[in-house]
Amino acid sequence: MESEMLRKAREYEQFNRERVRDTLPVFHVTGGIGWINDPNGFSLYKGEVHLFFQYYPYDVSWGPMHWGHVKTKDFIRWEYLPAALAPDAEYDKDGCFSGSAVELPDGEHLLLYTGVRKTDDGDEFQTQCIAVGDGNNYQKSPLNPVIDDSMLPAGGSHVDFRDPKIWRDEEGYHAAVANLCTEENGMILLYDSEDAQHWRYIGVLAAGHGHYGTMWECPDFFFLDGKAVLLHSAHEMLNDGLEFHPGDGIVCHIGRYDREEHRLLDEQVQAVDYGLDFYAPQTVETADGRRIMIGWMQSWASSRVGHPNLPFNGQMTVPRELRIRNGRLCQWPVRELENCRRNGVSFHGVRVTQWKSLPGVSGRVLDMTLHIRPAEDEAYHCFRVRVAEGGDLYSEISVRAQEGIVRMDRLNSGFPHDVVHVREFPVPVQNGELDLRIIMDKYSLELFAGEGECAASMTLYTPLSAEGIRFSADGAVLLDVEKYDISVED
Ligand code: FRU
Repeated sequence: MESEMLRKAREYEQFNRERVRDTLPVFHVTGGIGWINDPNGFSLYKGEVHLFFQYYPYDVSWGPMHWGHVKTKDFIRWEYLPAALAPDAEYDKDGCFSGSAVELPDGEHLLLYTGVRKTDDGDEFQTQCIAVGDGNNYQKSPLNPVIDDSMLPAGGSHVDFRDPKIWRDEEGYHAAVANLCTEENGMILLYDSEDAQHWRYIGVLAAGHGHYGTMWECPDFFFLDGKAVLLHSAHEMLNDGLEFHPGDGIVCHIGRYDREEHRLLDEQVQAVDYGLDFYAPQTVETADGRRIMIGWMQSWASSRVGHPNLPFNGQMTVPRELRIRNGRLCQWPVRELENCRRNGVSFHGVRVTQWKSLPGVSGRVLDMTLHIRPAEDEAYHCFRVRVAEGGDLYSEISVRAQEGIVRMDRLNSGFPHDVVHVREFPVPVQNGELDLRIIMDKYSLELFAGEGECAASMTLYTPLSAEGIRFSADGAVLLDVEKYDISVED
């Protein structure tokens, strides 16, 4: 049965999405209207990929959390479905927070999410709840909450206890849940179940012990290329060279899973995305065995200042195929994007010194690969590409080859708020050579360096008439360019 609150949200979104459709990005998920944050419930169901998201349809700022819903067959063309959850039960009256989903053997789709409940005396309880449905309508379970504060280890907080990620293997169902512990700060707890309804506490999968920030949110745990991988998003990170910056950070632990102790043993820890806007990623494994990640392409800091004149706030990244190579997490735009390339232009060995544009190389919805290498007669120190250029506005990616550093800079993109606009990060430059793949979709840019060893994302709210792209180098660079528009029309 649809509650009054859910019915209202569904009516509101249906009516308003139609009105604003042309303003939306072409192949990146937004709420269609209103506010979104974390991706939720990224899962396969009846042969299609479903994605839910933290959602407040009525405003472009965060509000009582609903779950919005889209699905896709190819990760590029997304179909809106009616909102799936509203905070309409006693145990989730203050929000249906993040969570995940799994297809049950009986053909139903199960959502596992965090219900938030504030009490009259100012306390708050976050518990894990389930809803079961058919891919369109979901019914909250009478068993809710299915994981509550009685199933916490000593020292675990009942206020910061959220974002369950469910998966199934031959032993049954498992869930990784984020928690704050007085002694260990951020930690990820493990729970098991035979039927995805009755759960028991298993142990601590990973804990910060004073490292990698305080609260850890939005865990995802999976096996890839022979390694155990844990992703989480952390509050109050400290600066660590060019790997982690202060504030919210997205952390990837790569290691070995100790099945006796239920513990992840780190071999390598790295940032997931080195750009300005990325948080709370979640993954799904496809039928053909690919591990695909999608993230909220936003930072909490910049989301709060808002973007005037747009009817939506928040978008997802392009879905990315993950691999572990040489001990590192590598990411690459989902291969289906290549089927949407149109109007290709390419150039080989263009000598770049002073600012230069190339015929046909412009636009705001595109997929462009640059291969840079030093000219034979002249070394170069810095290569620059400006995109979304028009009038005085532009955003810039620059490569300092000798240092092996890329700088992502939207200082001149027209963003009128005092948030972070520049990031620098290490990239694998070899003998001055580097590949950069740039994906743009109106209000965003995603950069993949090398073979995906580094990814960096940012939003940019430059007017869409700014479509220029130019290149320059201190010294001389030989540049190959392959550029396509992206279109989702058949
Ligand atoms: C992460 C987060 C989650 C929470 C959700 C609330 O961005 O804070 O921990 O479930 O957002 O919208």
